[in-house]
Amino acid sequence: MPLENILVEVRSRICYVTINRESKLNALNTATLTELGEAVKQALADSNVGGIIITGAGPKAFVAGADIAEFAPLNVDGGKQMAQTAQHNVFDVIEQGTKPVIAAVNGFALGGGLELAMACHIRIASANAKLGLPEVTLGLIPGYGGTQRLTRLIGRGRALEMILTADMITAEQALQFGLVNHVVDPDALLPKAEEIMNKILTRAPLAVAAAIRSVNASAIDAQKGFDTEIEEFAACFATNDTGEGIQAFIQKRKPEFKGE
Ligand code: COA
Repeated sequence: MPLENILVEVRSRICYVTINRESKLNALNTATLTELGEAVKQALADSNVGGIIITGAGPKAFVAGADIAEFAPLNVDGGKQMAQTAQHNVFDVIEQGTKPVIAAVNGFALGGGLELAMACHIRIASANAKLGLPEVTLGLIPGYGGTQRLTRLIGRGRALEMILTADMITAEQALQFGLVNHVVDPDALLPKAEEIMNKILTRAPLAVAAAIRSVNASAIDAQKGFDTEIEEFAACFATNDTGEGIQAFIQKRKPEFKGE
């Protein structure tokens, strides 16, 4: 598959995946998600690859969210399919992959971007990063696992405040919340991710895989939450407010929500 939206490079047993739509702040459209899912599956199957580092192109954004333009024509069925396909083919594949995946968060990680970072096993942020789940400003909720993974990572109260206010937090706040593992200067971002990855790559690969499976197993009982999120995300597309929120973003104006 020719890659148009991501860059993939394997060096010294690390597969570097860069989301490469800088002009759209690396927003995840369907084509990008398809390429990302395939690239991760290939890297997981490649015996020359020990781990994956995911980052965004350019200095400004890791990923500024799902591509909002693609939301505009969706109905309830389309919303359900969008959330389900991406969760199962990309986000769950990353989380359940038995090779370490590190997110190097080099700027905005919003909506689907923060959800992507949260699906990774470890997150490193550059000091200029801003993180948030702004979906309710669009009349939506997170649909790529955000309500579940954020709650697990930072707890119910902080997760609800971030999701309901839609506020972004700084890298330092994210560190304090435990949402990212380390905060470093932008220049030190990839070196820090590589330092951690290289240390993991010296450890026993089968034990690393077993540890990831075991940590993931702690969440298995909560699987129902992801299904609830897909249903609720899809149901948003039956509301007028969702259409209004999406059009307002596209038209660069403030939305007027009516609760309909
Ligand atoms: N989907 C589609 N396009 C997006 C996008 C997204 N999630 N995020 C940014 N873009 C596009 C903008 O529309 C703009 O495109 P244009 O130049 O063709 O008009 C380009 O990326 C640059 O973004 P811009 O908004 O001009 O940058 P900014 O520095 O003023 O603001 C953000 C940066 C991140 C605050 C702002 O882009 C934003 O709020 N993005 C949406 C975040 C969001 O709601 N994500 C969750 C989606 S579920």
